[in-house]
Amino acid sequence: MKILSVVGARPQFVKLAPIAQAATAAGVEHVIVHTGQHYDPMLSDVFFRDLGIPAPDVHLGVGSGSHGVQTGAILGALDAVLDEHRPDWVLAYGDTNSTLAAAVAAVKLHVPLAHLEAGLRSFNRRMPEEHNRVLTDHAADLCLAPTQVAMDHLASEGLGRRSVLVGDVMTDVLFQVRDSVVGRDVPLLTELGLEPGEYHLATIHRAENTDDRDRMAMIVEALSSLDRSVVLLAHPRVVAKAAEHGLSLDAGSLRSHAPLAYPDLVAAALRSRGVVTDSGGLQKEAFLLRVPCTTIRTETEWVETVDLGWNVLANDADAIRGAVARPVPGATEEAPYGDGNAARRVVETLVELAPSAPSPA
Ligand code: UD1
Repeated sequence: MKILSVVGARPQFVKLAPIAQAATAAGVEHVIVHTGQHYDPMLSDVFFRDLGIPAPDVHLGVGSGSHGVQTGAILGALDAVLDEHRPDWVLAYGDTNSTLAAAVAAVKLHVPLAHLEAGLRSFNRRMPEEHNRVLTDHAADLCLAPTQVAMDHLASEGLGRRSVLVGDVMTDVLFQVRDSVVGRDVPLLTELGLEPGEYHLATIHRAENTDDRDRMAMIVEALSSLDRSVVLLAHPRVVAKAAEHGLSLDAGSLRSHAPLAYPDLVAAALRSRGVVTDSGGLQKEAFLLRVPCTTIRTETEWVETVDLGWNVLANDADAIRGAVARPVPGATEEAPYGDGNAARRVVETLVELAPSAPSPA
């Protein structure tokens, strides 16, 4: 039994970590293909190092480009890789251009395709991530869903019979890393002279928040005028767009900082007063750490974080300021993202449902 994982962007490395562990534990052969979509060391290498992920078996080195160029380059390069390895499953992760390219490559070569984190929907058809995840779900032979809400979306699109609820693999990693950083010093706080509970942690990277100058200026203005310090962990796209738009990321309460390694990010989020973000993963991580989150978007795929009171969607400067200043919610016992054992279930499901597996007697 051989699984071939295709990953390329930062959140996919996080999801890969528990899958790689679970595959090893189950004695399943696992080939890792890195597309090269993210290539900066802080967006890529440190995740492999800190999360104990084996080095990729194949590196496609495609780099950046427009959606079509990037997706096409990965798709073209994957043909030879899939031909060589002929896995029992191609495993595609999440919603990036690397995901869609892996999906198309697999179906074209008749290699069974499983989609991890299937069934998430923003219902915003202008988001590249929404195109990627919808197309990948519909191409997949097996949809591995993180939540019941995701299962419901898959069922309503006619994909229920090929869907399995496995839980959320990012929760597996988060729980492990949280336990390893509790009580540990947070270099970011020392470096910036911040007190625990007295700063907000922010990330912004989505095209809809950075491409348009007025929209990005509104966000920067809101983050510059908050009640506490705001540390913006600046993705390369944000740095590039701020320069292009003539916006300063170090003004008023706002200060920018390079992206953090994953354990440092978790430690910094855990001690923050709140998180402000447009990332999908960080919304959920804030919820799992029980840190209030403000999401600068009009919708979220992780609706449970909003329903349970830990996440508020805010779409203009006043709404952002108001949401950030809200009180911390009370205790929450619900666990909509599973018990931290999703990756084991993923591998068990892949073994059980592998098309090449002998049928039960
Ligand atoms: C991608 C995913 C997004 C995910 C995010 C996580 C798509 C469509 N989007 O967005 O869903 O949430 O990753 O971070 O796949 N760049 C660098 N160094 C790098 C990588 C990128 O400088 O290592 C710069 C380049 O200028 C590039 C830009 O960032 O053009 C955007 O990178 P890209 O991979 O296209 O999309 P992300 O915004 O990272």
